[in-house]
Amino acid sequence: MNRDVIIACDFPDRETTLAFLDRFEGVRKPFVKIGMELFYGAGPEIVREIKARGHRIFLDLKLHDIPNTVKKAMRVLSALDVDMVNVHASGTVAMMRAALEGLTRADGTRPLLIAVTQLTSTSEEVLQRELLVSASMDDTISRYAQNAREAGLDGVVCSPLEAAGVKEACGKDFLTVTPGIRFPDAAADDQVRITTPARAREIGSDFIVVGRPITAAADPVAAYQRCIEEFV
Ligand code: C5P
Repeated sequence: MNRDVIIACDFPDRETTLAFLDRFEGVRKPFVKIGMELFYGAGPEIVREIKARGHRIFLDLKLHDIPNTVKKAMRVLSALDVDMVNVHASGTVAMMRAALEGLTRADGTRPLLIAVTQLTSTSEEVLQRELLVSASMDDTISRYAQNAREAGLDGVVCSPLEAAGVKEACGKDFLTVTPGIRFPDAAADDQVRITTPARAREIGSDFIVVGRPITAAADPVAAYQRCIEEFV
């Protein structure tokens, strides 16, 4: 799998998103991440529209429900012709297998399916005291990644700092998709476990997900190109 930079298009509406993507015309077609805000606000049409412009799309909806519901929802997302979708690994191996089944088209093709292990906003303290998970954060992430692998998924979303451990537990071909990326000279915003594009490459991330360092930059195209130069 070739390394790539995915831009998190965390915009509230269609117009802002398309105007943002217009800036990349003639440069390079970025791989874009559409999350809950844009998808719930603009609907499936925004996915078709961005796809028609030639972008690859990671639809970040983090499904988590009973296996049958997830399977049927995945069938709908697969028909949207996205390139990558995700589920919560805590939904169980049975749910992840059902997701994979729903996602696989009649001709055998399907988008990449990755699992969220633990959200990077969850601390080890909350994991243990509130969610009553007695294992450490690292052991939980490693086990959830192994569950995803056992279910036949392609990889996980994790902090770049966890990517090496995931590769060790699941093999080097198991994909790691890593948000929490910042340039060395920039603010962390609300992210905690962060690293730079260059370091993410060294650690072994396959895809970095970059939002504000590109979307809020004075020159988003230059910031994107800097990510490409350092990571790809
Ligand atoms: O702006 P920033 O680069 O922090 O954006 C990171 C993107 O990755 C956001 O869309 C955020 O929702 C997403 N994300 C994350 N941490 C996770 C999973 C997804 O930051 N564990």
